[in-house]
Amino acid sequence: KKTAIVTGAASGIGAAVCEQLRHAGMRVIGIDLRHSDICADLSTAAGRAYAVEAALCLSENRIDTLVCCAGLGPQAEPVASIAAVNYFGVTALLDGLFGALQAGCRASAVVVSSSSATLQAWDGNPLRQAYLDNDEAAVQAMLAALPPDLAPQAGFIAYASSKNAVACAVRQRAASWGQAGVRLNAVAPGAVQTPLLEAGLADARYGEGIRNFVAPLSTRARAEPADIAALIGFVAGDSAPFIHGSVLFADGGIDAAMRPQHF
Ligand code: NAI
Repeated sequence: KKTAIVTGAASGIGAAVCEQLRHAGMRVIGIDLRHSDICADLSTAAGRAYAVEAALCLSENRIDTLVCCAGLGPQAEPVASIAAVNYFGVTALLDGLFGALQAGCRASAVVVSSSSATLQAWDGNPLRQAYLDNDEAAVQAMLAALPPDLAPQAGFIAYASSKNAVACAVRQRAASWGQAGVRLNAVAPGAVQTPLLEAGLADARYGEGIRNFVAPLSTRARAEPADIAALIGFVAGDSAPFIHGSVLFADGGIDAAMRPQHF
């Protein structure tokens, strides 16, 4: 039986991915803060190290699919935890489990980014560079020292920057992972009906922006977790052998409507 590791397995998109992969016949090992096979806090270096160690142990060092869904929304406090989980909690697992993926069968990994990653320009932004340099202290210092006009948006900036950087982290690894025969992609959802989205909608600072973050699609404004899980299952699976290093938007057209000339 093939083995999958899924972070954020206890809720929302991660829970839907677990169901999808189990349905496809895989053995699924979930990682989350609670209610999971491996209970670990991916916001801390110690929690990430424990999650990697436990995943290697339970999988016996052979992983066929890795899906990183665990994440915090822009309303989460403290702001530092958003970058910690959404970026550093992802790259620690990618790099820590890469060896076990190389031992897997036609292995691949998928990371959940967000279409909010493109709402701001990050080219040349020192915050993005600090992420890509794997400098967690510098990221946290920059988020804590935002200029007064940006400080009220700190949660959103932490969220969007972490989601942009994690998509870049996927693309940065495409050459080396490709050489090793392990595919790696990012999926960037728009608004998905989950507890994370509900918490954002209920937040006084970000609720209105999130309410307006709807797809330009007459059939539905928001996705269901299963819609995103279906795409992740496809991209991670054997039907997508040539999809590698890609950032696949599943946002009902939000990114296209905002940036028609960029892709
Ligand atoms: P969710 O809140 O339903 O699930 C996220 C899971 O991550 C939870 O089970 C939570 O316990 C876990 N998690 C949070 N912090 C953790 C930590 N420190 N250590 C271990 N696990 C932790 O949210 P949802 O919406 O399913 O989010 C999944 C991913 O999709 C996230 O990365 C999110 O940013 C992303 N996303 C969600 C969108 C949406 O509209 N819901 C849109 C775009 C991206």
